Amino acid sequence: MPDSTAQHAVAKQPTVLVGVTGCIAAYKSCEIVRGLQKAGVRVKVVMTEHATEFVGPTTFRALTHEPVAVGLFDDPSDPIHHISLAQEADVFVIAPCTANVMAKIANGIADDLLTTTALATTSPLMIAPAMNVHMYENAATMANRGKLEMRGVEFIEASEGYLACGDVGRGRLADPSDIVTAVLARLGIAHDLAGLRVLVTAGPTVEPIDPVRYLTNSSSGKMGYAVAEAAARRGADVTLVSGPVALQPPSGVHTVRVRTARDMLQACEEAFKDTDIVVCAAAVADMRPEVAAASKLKKATDAEALSTIHLVENPDILATLGAAKGRRTVVGFAAETDDVVANGRAKLEKKYADLIVANEVGYRKTFGEDTNTAVLIMADEEVTLPTMSKRDVAERILDQALALHERK
Ligand code: C5P
Repeated sequence: MPDSTAQHAVAKQPTVLVGVTGCIAAYKSCEIVRGLQKAGVRVKVVMTEHATEFVGPTTFRALTHEPVAVGLFDDPSDPIHHISLAQEADVFVIAPCTANVMAKIANGIADDLLTTTALATTSPLMIAPAMNVHMYENAATMANRGKLEMRGVEFIEASEGYLACGDVGRGRLADPSDIVTAVLARLGIAHDLAGLRVLVTAGPTVEPIDPVRYLTNSSSGKMGYAVAEAAARRGADVTLVSGPVALQPPSGVHTVRVRTARDMLQACEEAFKDTDIVVCAAAVADMRPEVAAASKLKKATDAEALSTIHLVENPDILATLGAAKGRRTVVGFAAETDDVVANGRAKLEKKYADLIVANEVGYRKTFGEDTNTAVLIMADEEVTLPTMSKRDVAERILDQALALHERK
């Protein structure tokens, strides 16, 4: 099993400085900023004057909640802005980088804030070039690139295809998600779920008896939310289908709020088609009242209806999705009070899951707590995890789910 615990444990929030230069691909920098933020990175932006012809600094200010400087003397609160920017950055990535800016940096020219910062920085510099194919292949550009590479600048190769000018060839800015992955790799942050869609269920469901009463299960939603948050940080496109909980939706996650098991199933089925990995962490109510009264039942007049609630079975969301999984990887949970592993293994088969996260529940165990002691049960393997935070359990579940998915 891949042990990426160290990779996930980022002590302080890293800062990436994104340099934007005057190129038609400048709008793609917004996506790069977003992708880095989704992975938990603080992002600051520095632009050239020409870049502002394509995207305004206001856009980046709104995205980053940080000041965006363009001119060398823009920030009156900081007399030597290029030095402070250079020192703050754990990585400086220029994306897109024009031939002109490459040439200036290769030759130590520092005539604006971006190029001055590039000269002043001691942190890793990464360049994602974007330009016309002939400019890209020009001997001058190639020589500049060679010089920069000799100095340890990492290039994120431009791709081939139709260019904005109508030419076809190399010069398109690399895919923003590949740029994000490359920068995160440089920071030592895993981005191994990039390109995958993950569906997570979390929290309880509530099954109405009447407009004010309902049946439910114990569930804080913390485990499912931790999985959704971790998957998004690792680059996945995440849909979280959540029952009522007192948690904030994780940032960068598409959260769908539901109440009943049937609503949860419907929301899952809508997202399921495009999903690669499904993690069913919700504590779905197994039963629901057959009839939900339209008006509040009164003790005095509806004693019979209140004391005898006829229940019918809810759909099993995990088993329904598991039976239709195809190449998808399906993860379920088994909250057990006894025979944790045996019951978990039985659930693996019964619900067509690839992985069951089994844990012992009871008073002060798992429910509502921030820690969990789990066994990961798979067809041919069992991994017993020590007691750890739900955040760390989430990472381990995703490590294992990804490994299973890659084997399919
Ligand atoms: O059968 P049991 O409720 O113990 O199974 C737990 C697993 O099945 C969890 O992953 C839970 O999210 C899922 N489940 C479900 N729909 C149900 C009942 C359980 O998805 N109706």
